[in-house]
Amino acid sequence: LTTPTSATPDSDGFLQCLLGNIPSGLIYTQGASNFTDVLASSVHNPRVYTGDMVRPLCIVTATDASHVQAAVRCGRAHGVRVRVRSGGHDYEGLSYRSLQQGDVFGVVDLAGIRAITVGSDAVWPLAPTAWVESGATLGELYYTVAKNNSEVAFPAGICPTIGVGGHFSGGGIGMLMRKFGLSIDNILDAKLVNADGDLVDRAAMGEDLFWAIRGGGGGNFGIVVSWKVSLVKVPSTVTAFNIVRTVDQGAIDVLTRWQEVGPTLPFDINMRVIIMGQQVTFQSLYLGKCSDVVPMLSNLFPELGMTGGDCLEMTWLQSVVFFNSWNPNAPVESLLSRGTSLSTFTKNKSDYVRRAIAKDDWNKIFPWFAMDGAGMIILEPHGGFIDTIPASATPYPHRSGVLYNIQYITFWPWGNDGSAATSWINNFYDFMGQYVCKNPRVAYVNYRDLDIGVNTVVNDVTTFDGGKVWGEKYFAGNFRRLAAVKAAVDPTDFFRSEQSIPPLVQ
Ligand code: FDA
Repeated sequence: LTTPTSATPDSDGFLQCLLGNIPSGLIYTQGASNFTDVLASSVHNPRVYTGDMVRPLCIVTATDASHVQAAVRCGRAHGVRVRVRSGGHDYEGLSYRSLQQGDVFGVVDLAGIRAITVGSDAVWPLAPTAWVESGATLGELYYTVAKNNSEVAFPAGICPTIGVGGHFSGGGIGMLMRKFGLSIDNILDAKLVNADGDLVDRAAMGEDLFWAIRGGGGGNFGIVVSWKVSLVKVPSTVTAFNIVRTVDQGAIDVLTRWQEVGPTLPFDINMRVIIMGQQVTFQSLYLGKCSDVVPMLSNLFPELGMTGGDCLEMTWLQSVVFFNSWNPNAPVESLLSRGTSLSTFTKNKSDYVRRAIAKDDWNKIFPWFAMDGAGMIILEPHGGFIDTIPASATPYPHRSGVLYNIQYITFWPWGNDGSAATSWINNFYDFMGQYVCKNPRVAYVNYRDLDIGVNTVVNDVTTFDGGKVWGEKYFAGNFRRLAAVKAAVDPTDFFRSEQSIPPLVQ
């Protein structure tokens, strides 16, 4: 089936086509009484759920790859675009909303496609593998691979409710990344429904498309149904710790030094930094015992003043719970909770730093955390294994020479109009421009931010020049190759959103 998506969508034809190919109980149209519940079922940010949201014509809660194929084929045949949602954590809600008034589109929700199958064939030093379906959450993945073997893990993000589908599509940074890289550095194969509705694996899709789906951003090239990952080996006991220093206790000196130390520490340690108010938390995972990490840090980072009393020894799986909940005793079963969080509005932005910020400049930065509407920032150190991978090996270009990623987060509750928080993050981001990577200023695609640019569509196709504005910020020199892959696999721009990769039409 190759009928191009037309400019005038045939909504009725699309719905009839779905009903002819997918069990009706899996299709929720706008008029259905439980449509709103299904739409909200994995929403994590009311900012992008309320307000200007253009809602989907229908949601298909697929339980089998054939439903995904049918949705894409029906969409192609009747001129209705399809967006895909796995865990619903997109910071701008692009998996379930459109910003274009009048847009007619369907959503394929993959929460019902979430099996995780761990291979039993391999033993160390040959890494075991697992197939994980896109609708699984990171928490389900972590729990399944590590519950019965405390020496098996997978490198991915901190929040356990994130969906595998979107997360792997954009990169996947987390506590194991200095040792093992991002999630995308550990993916061996994938099964994807392409723009023709065919289900293809790595061999059938070809290496260009397989390269693009590992970090080139979600919702661009097709719908990935499942991923084959290489699991990693961790010690049965790891050490986790949070060391908190206030500005009055000299936090700025320690932070200034951390910028040099954090990215150059041995690969076995990841020390991220959370700054909120006048307080800095050095949050760390060491792949080994307390008795080894204390002397190591006294030698390499004496300014931190770590002692044995800071150590919490536990399994890697327990450390995942700890970093999410800050409670070392929370049950590992909590990783299996899915669901929504509609209580807090958030806005996020990101930067990368390649030259350490001077102490005098941190002194100018800290007053921002005492302002009205102030949020927080998280600094994720790079270096380690990430540095060893060439910038073009995957679409994630922020490799050698990057000291750390900055994520800016601001939040506000219901009843507050968010104006103070929004002004704070916008003004602070502008202020930080002088200290971070620029020309162009770069960003992490999984911390999606529509402020850095949105697509322009001409003659029903997204323009390359419009996409370049935001695309080179996320992907640097890899953007052009992503656009060339898009032109090869989806020339009619079926998988389109406000920040989808445009086809590079020669
Ligand atoms: P969602 O379902 O919203 O999808 C995100 C994007 O991917 C959309 O464009 C969607 O269309 C597309 N997509 C989804 N499934 C797809 C599929 N199967 N095939 C193709 N495209 C697909 N990141 C990080 O690296 N490290 C971290 O520690 C964190 N922490 C974190 C905490 C919290 C609370 C949030 C809200 C987010 C993060 N993130 C993060 C960012 C997160 O990695 C990012 O938002 C992911 O894209 C979310 O994936 P989901 O599947 O949950 O989102």
